[in-house]
Amino acid sequence: MKVTAVLLAAGQGTRMKSKLPKVLHLVAGKPMLWHALQSIRQSTTEKPIVVIGHGADQVVHYLGDSAQTVLQQPQLGTGHAVMQAESLLKDKTDLVVVCYSDMPLLRGETLQKLVETQKNNRGPVSILTVMADDSHGFGRIIRKPDGTVEAIVEEAVATPDQLQIKELNVGGYCFDANWLWDALHRIPKNPTKGEYYLTDMIGLASQAGLPVQATLMDDLQETIGVNTRVHLAEVETAMCRRINQQHMLNGVTLIDPASTYIETGVQIGMDTVIMPNTYLSGKTEIGEDNVIGPNSIIQNSKIGNRCKVLASVVEGAWLEDDIDMGPFARLRKGAHLASHVHMGNFGEVKDSYLAAGVKMGHFSYIGNAQIGANTNIGAGTITCNYDGEKKHATEIGENVFIGSDTMLVAPLTIGAGSRTGAGSVVTKNVAEDTLVVGVPARAIKKLESKIKKVSR
Ligand code: UD1
Ligand code: MG
Repeated sequence: MKVTAVLLAAGQGTRMKSKLPKVLHLVAGKPMLWHALQSIRQSTTEKPIVVIGHGADQVVHYLGDSAQTVLQQPQLGTGHAVMQAESLLKDKTDLVVVCYSDMPLLRGETLQKLVETQKNNRGPVSILTVMADDSHGFGRIIRKPDGTVEAIVEEAVATPDQLQIKELNVGGYCFDANWLWDALHRIPKNPTKGEYYLTDMIGLASQAGLPVQATLMDDLQETIGVNTRVHLAEVETAMCRRINQQHMLNGVTLIDPASTYIETGVQIGMDTVIMPNTYLSGKTEIGEDNVIGPNSIIQNSKIGNRCKVLASVVEGAWLEDDIDMGPFARLRKGAHLASHVHMGNFGEVKDSYLAAGVKMGHFSYIGNAQIGANTNIGAGTITCNYDGEKKHATEIGENVFIGSDTMLVAPLTIGAGSRTGAGSVVTKNVAEDTLVVGVPARAIKKLESKIKKVSR
């Protein structure tokens, strides 16, 4: 049986007061539209159709080929929005799931239940409903004595008695496609607004003696629709809590979930501990037995196992195993730290590889560099990698000792086993096992070779 979703996303979202189309606002790091599509995927079999209007270009650009789109211009209501999908879908699907794109908390499982309800319904449509004390803005559900749904009454036209009804229209529908398209054309135009309300389809079915079933949801939170930034924050908090719970159930310790922000899609291995005030975002993968935070930001990065990242910022970096960094270290794009690297306070690494066992304890900048195993980078070392126009590379061999406050003027190669004296400004390549000192640095001594001590 073919099940296709039509996702409504043409509305302006005026109350967001934003240049960005409402559905592209982020929740847990991904657009609301992304969340809606995720849930839809779990309950449908075909590529979804997104009805676009306001900000159409941006929405199409975001969607790429993840969905088909149809333009609704002008926007004459939710019923009119679904009509736009007729040409694409007529005779191509058995069931049509319709939902709104501004409900990022709606779960795939809930839509699955809705589809199941409709599969067992001899009538043409089933809907999602919820019981709530605060019914503001929602359509009210009128039930028949036999328990099927008679109508949805929009708040604007409800009688005082109807306004008291606590069962509400969530905004999720599953239609029998054979009935849907003709019935859409029978929706009366709303006399005050001149719009076509999808909710009128329920009355149409019931008046024709066709049963409408409802799936009553128990989680009110799932039904929050985002109309303002206040709702956006509410949804963000709820989504964040949901994500955190999932990680905890997977074996990750969160010391203080309330101050831990983990975006959708971040992966964390078992027995890793996330300390308070930590933000994990983007395409981030963290292995097992790590301690991250407190006060850390990890973005688009990969971290192996048994690392400690204390009060540090890690962006676009790769940490292997048993790394100890921070407090106050910063890794930027292209930083790759091999296992057992130690990085202390106020260090910055960008576009560089630090081989196993490198120590960089304090106040250093390493950019566009390759550093050999077990090399020690003294406090205050700088790779002077930028000449004002271009970046240049620095290559440092294994078992090198860079003295405190050394300036490494790139392009530069420092041979394995060498040393630089404190305060050297190294402008010329240094051979292996050589001590250089001064400004500019010059070789003063050949050292007893350390290279052979390194196990390769
Ligand atoms: C709708 C329901 C109401 C329900 C509520 C739940 C109708 C008539 N009413 O009201 O019963 O309780 O949602 O939140 O459906 N859209 C279009 N094109 C349009 C109009 C709307 O694509 O011409 C899209 C919007 O972008 C939005 C969705 O449809 O994603 C819902 O529209 P909205 O105006 O928010 O409907 P509500 O007044 O909230
Ligand atoms: Mg709404």
